[in-house]
Amino acid sequence: MSEAERLHRHLIGQQGSRRSLNTPALVLDLDMLDRNIAEMATFAKAHKVNLRPHSKTHKSADIARRQIKAGALGVCCAKLGEAEALGEAGVESLHITSPVVTPQAITRLIELNGKIGGLMVVVDHAANVDALAAAAVKAGKPLTVVVDIDPGMHRTGVATPDGVVELVRKVTQQKSLKYAGVQFYCGRHQHIKDFAERKASIEERTEYLKGILAKLEAAGLKPGIVTGSGTGTHFIDAKLGVFTELQVGSYVFMDHEYNICDLRGLDRPTFEQALQIDARVVSANTAGMVTVDAGLKAMATESGPPQVLKGAIEGSTTRFMGDEHLAVIAPEGKAAPGLAEQVILTPPHCDPTVNLYESYHVVKGDTLVEIWSVTGRGRSR
Ligand SMILES: Cc1ncc(COP(=O)(O)O)c(C=O)c1O
Repeated sequence: MSEAERLHRHLIGQQGSRRSLNTPALVLDLDMLDRNIAEMATFAKAHKVNLRPHSKTHKSADIARRQIKAGALGVCCAKLGEAEALGEAGVESLHITSPVVTPQAITRLIELNGKIGGLMVVVDHAANVDALAAAAVKAGKPLTVVVDIDPGMHRTGVATPDGVVELVRKVTQQKSLKYAGVQFYCGRHQHIKDFAERKASIEERTEYLKGILAKLEAAGLKPGIVTGSGTGTHFIDAKLGVFTELQVGSYVFMDHEYNICDLRGLDRPTFEQALQIDARVVSANTAGMVTVDAGLKAMATESGPPQVLKGAIEGSTTRFMGDEHLAVIAPEGKAAPGLAEQVILTPPHCDPTVNLYESYHVVKGDTLVEIWSVTGRGRSR
């Protein structure tokens, strides 16, 4: 039994039980989550593009199943370990978006391929193609691969158009590998705040991708799948119509980094901030300022301190006060919350925040309704 279940299982279904959670607690608003999932599913359907949401955001079999139920083909995983965790939990159809290259990891990949139906993995190097092909031959089941294209950020992917054609050709020459398509993820473009600026920059990158797709087609190597995109560019990418599937991740939760981006040029948020952190005031001895129990260990911090969603007067700000503590500062002349009061925060960056917790406390309104495990927590190998 998880710690969250031990402490909070008895609260499930009790009206108002969110207020009794021990804090800090990772809380997921179920109605908001479901509205976000439905909104993206409807959008994809209307634009005739498939969805394969990225599970790196939530690492949760429960959420993956909800996305698939709403129409997604499956989910993406950032790492082999995440794919193993979701596979163990019964989620089939997994695409691993980072290369798997070491002999020990390739052994595990081939094992997973033997166990689940729809596994795909990216490749971006000839030596990796050889290694995967050799391992798949031994196992006797073909491995489906997607060639990763570097969009210019030099994280992963083949760096040149001719290099892509060459690698795809090599993949097609391996009997034990199945060429499914290409991946193109423009990570740097996702968080450009201004819609017009984001649109112009992604259009430029899409022209580059189209040039590669034309070369592949001319060489008789047309990809079945063109996968990529993210929450920041999904709207623009779907209109451009080059991707056959979208790998959107963060839309399910919407952290602050994303919430300040105008995703659809509408000047209002499209998705809701479903992921929250409940904290409590543990010290209230300074006028206009209190200390709550959610510090550096309670959330990812590289994007700054969290926003206050509820529990403190509008305009309140936060400042980290160390590993365990956060200051909540009321606007000039206003009162801060009282001792032991609940303060609800929205994390600056969801993915690494989720990885700090073993469980989601799933709420409807202010009632705890379920506890879900963070299935792939820490499975980053
Ligand atoms: C390869 C890849 N695809 C898709 C995503 C999902 O992007 P987002 O969270 O911006 O929707 C990510 C996120 O980092 C990613 O690395």
